[in-house]
Amino acid sequence: MDPVAIVTGIRRVGYEIAKDLLSKGFNLTVVYKSSKDKVKELQRLAEKKGRKVLALKIDLRDEDPQVIVDETLKTFSRVDALIHLASPYYRTPLSNISKEAFYDHFKPIAEAFYFMALAFYRASMKNEGPIKGRIVAFGDWAVEKTPYRGYSSYFIAKGALHSAVKVLAKEFAPDVLVNCIALGPTLKAEDLSEEEWQKILRNTPLKRPVSLRDVLDLTMFLLRTESMTGEILFLDSGRHIAGSGVGSVG
Ligand SMILES: NC(=O)c1ccc[n+]([C@@H]2O[C@H](COP(=O)([O-])OP(=O)(O)OC[C@H]3O[C@@H](n4cnc5c(N)ncnc54)[C@H](OP(=O)(O)O)[C@@H]3O)[C@@H](O)[C@H]2O)c1
Repeated sequence: MDPVAIVTGIRRVGYEIAKDLLSKGFNLTVVYKSSKDKVKELQRLAEKKGRKVLALKIDLRDEDPQVIVDETLKTFSRVDALIHLASPYYRTPLSNISKEAFYDHFKPIAEAFYFMALAFYRASMKNEGPIKGRIVAFGDWAVEKTPYRGYSSYFIAKGALHSAVKVLAKEFAPDVLVNCIALGPTLKAEDLSEEEWQKILRNTPLKRPVSLRDVLDLTMFLLRTESMTGEILFLDSGRHIAGSGVGSVG
């Protein structure tokens, strides 16, 4: 049977991952909030390749993520992988802190991940073989090293996501493998000027953005590995070894 992956957050990096998975024989459930255009493109591509994309319009701040796994099972009768990229990213300066902005980050990034991963784990237990499923979360290199000033809601949520990866890797072993890609500068965030973006790239030892090819290859590795779990992998053009503080954008 063709493998089935759930991908949340398909606007940019998630879109590239979804396309790659389709070309590698996966059927997909994609979770989106506003990126209907990307859904249509993925569905067109899937049709060409004889695959299927189930699109679920879900705001991960308010909906129970159990529905994502339930709908996936209804459509495909199985689920093999969960790739969680959905994440807001905007400044929350201390002068303008609100519970709303905090939960706007925390719910989709961390809380939804935890409950989605639990639902995924239970569903994948009926899969054959010693490894029942694999989970890949997208974190951020700066959480572990030097969070940017002015983004506290985002970084607290991503920190909880990194913790959830380690905690769940232990809880789900030996059946489901859980890992995290702590991404560095890959695609410019909308709220950054071109000048800020170039400064960020100059502050990476490799002086260039993370390549999408590497993101796709590492994701695929984590969807195939038999012996890695609980890892937070820095894919960041070496930014984490550049030293503390340098390159902060806040
Ligand atoms: N790009 C980088 O350089 C970079 C650097 C470090 C870490 N990362 C991490 O890598 C991942 C992908 O990055 P990206 O740049 O491709 O992200 P992006 O373009 O900013 O897209 C964010 C995605 O999150 C989804 N999303 C946000 N809030 C949501 C909610 N409440 N419910 C459901 N979906 C929600 C959006 O859905 P809709 O589009 O459907 O609204 C969108 O697809 C993210 O986790 C990001 O934090 C990226």
